[in-house]
Amino acid sequence: MSLRNQNPNPKPHPEAPARAAPAPEAEGVEHRPVLLHEVLAHLAVRPEGAYVDATVGGGGHAYEIARRLDPDRGGRLIGLDVDPKALAAAAGRLREFLKKGTVELVRASYVDLEKVLKERGIAGVDGVLLDLGLSSLQLADRERGFSFRGDGPLDMRFDPEGPLTAAEILNAYPEEELARILREYGEERYASRIAGEIVRARARKPIETTRELVELVLRAIPQPAQRASFRRGLHPATRTFQALRIAVNRELENVERGLETAFRSLKPGGRLVVISFHSLEDRLVKRFMQAKAQGCVCPPEVPICRCGRRPEAKLLGKATPTEGEIAENPRARSARLRALERVRPTPAPAPA
Ligand SMILES: C[S@@+](CC[C@H](N)C(=O)[O-])C[C@H]1O[C@@H](n2cnc3c(N)ncnc32)[C@H](O)[C@@H]1O
Repeated sequence: MSLRNQNPNPKPHPEAPARAAPAPEAEGVEHRPVLLHEVLAHLAVRPEGAYVDATVGGGGHAYEIARRLDPDRGGRLIGLDVDPKALAAAAGRLREFLKKGTVELVRASYVDLEKVLKERGIAGVDGVLLDLGLSSLQLADRERGFSFRGDGPLDMRFDPEGPLTAAEILNAYPEEELARILREYGEERYASRIAGEIVRARARKPIETTRELVELVLRAIPQPAQRASFRRGLHPATRTFQALRIAVNRELENVERGLETAFRSLKPGGRLVVISFHSLEDRLVKRFMQAKAQGCVCPPEVPICRCGRRPEAKLLGKATPTEGEIAENPRARSARLRALERVRPTPAPAPA
């Protein structure tokens, strides 16, 4: 089955196609940066600027940002990730820039971005990139349990020291809570049926592997719905895996906090570029950016502004991958980029 471009706008994050199927370890898998040209165009990297790649992953975007920086004029990039394996991959790709001091890699959550900057005496940066979700390296590593292909332990933590695994959720949460997670984070139509199947299965023995989870999802979803899902290029377990990953990593809560902290870290004129991979994330990003760009909210009949609200940002637009990029990198197909520029708020007009 090819996932390539059968449904140009699916909601959940698609898995990599069969030919990029999981190796026992993620060795040899390369993460291709998504929407690279659009990221660079929206960040408008200045050689003397300070930038943060808050989800550095395999270092694909970071490499191209770092290439545009001049360390002799103060240009620098800080790359964050919570996954030490991702940081090791980024360190390999960014070796030359680490040597020159252009790049520094830090094991930290983007939620703690302001703390990371403060520790380095950086008051504000010229740009922050957030490329949300998981990388091809993580997806291809069976031991991480992110993929419904192959078999592996049900872990799904980005941070291997994180407090909660997918197996713990599946084996301990009440049925209604499991159904809520599947419904809210996976937008899964058969959430209640799958939750019921999980509870029945775990009464026999704990659910431990990705294959066991796939099998019980396939038992819960009616055959015609499974066929329809395959026709759209989506494995029927996609939504369940997405939902669990979001719950394990508290992704939506982190995205909300990460957007705020990234925005506060920008200098006036600094830019925030965010790539999301499913509609739940994209909705948060869209609302956040629109709220920052919102000016006066007084009713139209009020002649002079009383609310005093001024835009804190200018929207720079959005982008989606071209057919060409999707053909080369199917992981890109549900990507949505949104960007804004922080502006110096104009003072409210003095009352007449
Ligand atoms: C889509 S990948 C980024 C790929 C990267 N842009 C590249 O070009 O190689 C997302 C990365 O974000 C990391 N991540 C997830 N949650 C995070 C968090 N709260 N803070 C920092 N990094 C996080 C994941 O571990 C993963 O490596």
